[in-house]
Amino acid sequence: MKRIILDTDTAGDDAVAIMMALRAKDAKLEGITINCGNISFDQEVENALYTVEVAGESGKVPVYPGARHPLLKEWRTVEEIHGSDGMGDSHFPKARQRPERKHAVDAIVDSINENPGEITLVEIAPMTNVALALRKDPGIAKKVKEFYFMGGANQYLGNVTPAAEFNIWVDPDAASIVLNSGMPVTMVGWEIVMRHGLIGVPELQEIGSMKTKESEFYLAVNRQVRKFMEIERGVDGTSCPDSITMAIVLNPGVATDTRERYVEVDAADGVSRGVTWVDELGYLKRKPNVSVVYEASQRVFRGMLYTMLRGGRV
Ligand code: RIB
Ligand code: CA
Repeated sequence: MKRIILDTDTAGDDAVAIMMALRAKDAKLEGITINCGNISFDQEVENALYTVEVAGESGKVPVYPGARHPLLKEWRTVEEIHGSDGMGDSHFPKARQRPERKHAVDAIVDSINENPGEITLVEIAPMTNVALALRKDPGIAKKVKEFYFMGGANQYLGNVTPAAEFNIWVDPDAASIVLNSGMPVTMVGWEIVMRHGLIGVPELQEIGSMKTKESEFYLAVNRQVRKFMEIERGVDGTSCPDSITMAIVLNPGVATDTRERYVEVDAADGVSRGVTWVDELGYLKRKPNVSVVYEASQRVFRGMLYTMLRGGRV
């Protein structure tokens, strides 16, 4: 039974990843921590609370507010991608459950220290909270069971600048701390999303025919991303970065090719900010610090997503 702490900047696909974790057969979502990223921080908190409520788990999963700002850099939110509320402009009502008073950083540190070797830490947001947790107690790096993150791009185009993926671009200083912490890290980069994590028109039609609470929620929260991907990226469908990452966490067999590499984050200001350099040929002669996912099974991912959207357990 995987015990998951999920760090998120809750917009549409983050919400789908939360729902997948809540519907897992062999995992328990023990806490959600909120990090600055996609949209306004307070709205990210509400989106997480509402998603827990929609999934029928209201009051059972604590939501901890965390870093409202990256460690050092300024950043911008991306309402143009996710909608003004991050949820496809659905403007859902506020959930009954309220956020915890405990800070996300303390929740991450305490959860790992109280359960050494047990916690799977999943990152689908910028890494400010995780970096601060490692600074508060570096010892958690050796106590966490595993750390998965959606972020970076392995020899591939960026999605917020020519070469950087959003989660890393927002807080490259935090990402650098995390990748050099000694935690057992698995990276799911933007290239995996663009090759194996897109839901196109046929799939959206299949989801539209399901007529379940989950499928309707999925279509609503991804409404704006679909428009953005079609108009700005020429892709007629929606991208699933956080949900394919969660699928890999819940079923490591989704990652069909994973390789040990030394990965370095460029935290400089300017056009290279947030680049994840994967040292493919070992030029830097550094010990590999990341298990990089090179290939994933679109078929298995989609199967898991459909099962969840039909109300099943994954
Ligand atoms: O680049 C995509 C990632 O950035 C996703 O996690 C999305 O939710 C944003 O956080
Ligand atoms: Ca995210």
